[in-house]
Amino acid sequence: IAAVKKGRPVALVLSRPRDLIHEVCQKLLLSDQQLRRMMVAMEKSMEKGLDRETASTAAVRMLPSYVCAVPNGTERGGFLALDLGGTNFRVLLIRLKEKEAEMTGKIFRVPENIMRGTGEALFDHIADCMAKFMQEHDLKDAQKLPLGFTFSFPCAQEGLTKGKLINWTKGFNASGVEGADVVTLLREACQRRRDIDIDVVALLNDTVGTLMACAFVENSCQIGVIVGTGTNACYMERFDRISKISDYVDEEGLVPEEMIINTEWGAFGDDGAMDFIRTEWDDVVDRQSINPGKQVFEKMISGMYMGEITRVVLEDLARQKLLFGGNFEAISRPHCFPTKYVSEIENELLEDEDRTFQKTFQILEDIGIETVSSNDCVNVAYVCSLGFRAAHLTAAGIAVLLNRMGKPFVTVGLDGSVYRFHPTYPKLLDEKIEQLVNKGLQYQLMLSEDGSGRGAALVAAVATRLKLEKLV
Ligand code: GLC
Repeated sequence: IAAVKKGRPVALVLSRPRDLIHEVCQKLLLSDQQLRRMMVAMEKSMEKGLDRETASTAAVRMLPSYVCAVPNGTERGGFLALDLGGTNFRVLLIRLKEKEAEMTGKIFRVPENIMRGTGEALFDHIADCMAKFMQEHDLKDAQKLPLGFTFSFPCAQEGLTKGKLINWTKGFNASGVEGADVVTLLREACQRRRDIDIDVVALLNDTVGTLMACAFVENSCQIGVIVGTGTNACYMERFDRISKISDYVDEEGLVPEEMIINTEWGAFGDDGAMDFIRTEWDDVVDRQSINPGKQVFEKMISGMYMGEITRVVLEDLARQKLLFGGNFEAISRPHCFPTKYVSEIENELLEDEDRTFQKTFQILEDIGIETVSSNDCVNVAYVCSLGFRAAHLTAAGIAVLLNRMGKPFVTVGLDGSVYRFHPTYPKLLDEKIEQLVNKGLQYQLMLSEDGSGRGAALVAAVATRLKLEKLV
């Protein structure tokens, strides 16, 4: 209307790609009202997951960790930690002393054929890496060190050292593991080779490790969050609210006051609870994934999908002739736009005051798009910046937990590649939690240094400490 008043033809204004792009992308902007509606749905889903009657059909699984105490800083000794959860597998030797953790470790790749081969081959690979590490560190003949196994997938645990994989996530699909106890599979793989002996004292999720590692230095830490290849959160829940395991007592016959619950919030929305904010682009990413219909919340947030969502939006815009002069072939190749490009382009937007878009040009050229203009770069950067939806969705999830816990001051331990490397994510996350959290509740966010490794040692250490205390 303003254009008409100024005597400019409306068609010309509406055909300006940037306005149209902003209009098309509106769906990725979530209002606080939408986020609050999502928070109500998420808490409902969580309650369903905790309740004995409804737990088996809940999208958010709310898995008991059997970790009922955070470290108190007196944990000491040497531990082994295994960490499986992404494209790498790590073996670590950790020495805890005086609030410090000395770590030596080795990273091994998990090739795709192993991720998606047989379970036996996967666990043989793990045992093989462990044997190599123990050989290199002269540990084979040393006394059996207590071992913490960080296995970052949904596991139905029956105790600290026993857990059945419910289903694979994040691109893993090794056969014969779903439904099996992963600690037994690990022990069996070690027995098959006969040259290593292990003493698994704890099985844990990476979120639990993150919480524990953070609590080791900051006692108020009660929530652990990962935003990396996948996303998930755990928190300290009142035991009387976990009705599905109300008959649990610890080894001494005592009922714990609290227990860490691994929410597995990545699966929130698998029952349709997120449909009111999902877009057709989320749908495309989901359909092309190896687990369609699963991990709906995770696919809107985490590093494994952020680049791909951006790519799908860019492809759509190119097909609508709003980008790259309508040249859409190159950007149509699935996964040609990894999440690190989103971070790099956003970074340039923050740092390149002259707006040369050198890096953005370079990236688009590398993808093989031949007709890139400066305007295209501005628009691609805009689409990348919409990744803030991920930060806002995570913020809503964290606010649900803070509000539910209702504790006056809680530290939230965070880790994962998106939290660490995305240039604006941490700030956007913090600002949005602030807006969504109940009045009177205080919180702080804290980077949890290597929770998967350190946390495994700490869970193992707390378990060993409690065992020793009982012996005295
Ligand atoms: C996936 C896994 C979950 C893990 C998260 C972060 O969501 O299911 O167990 O914590 O990724 O690694």
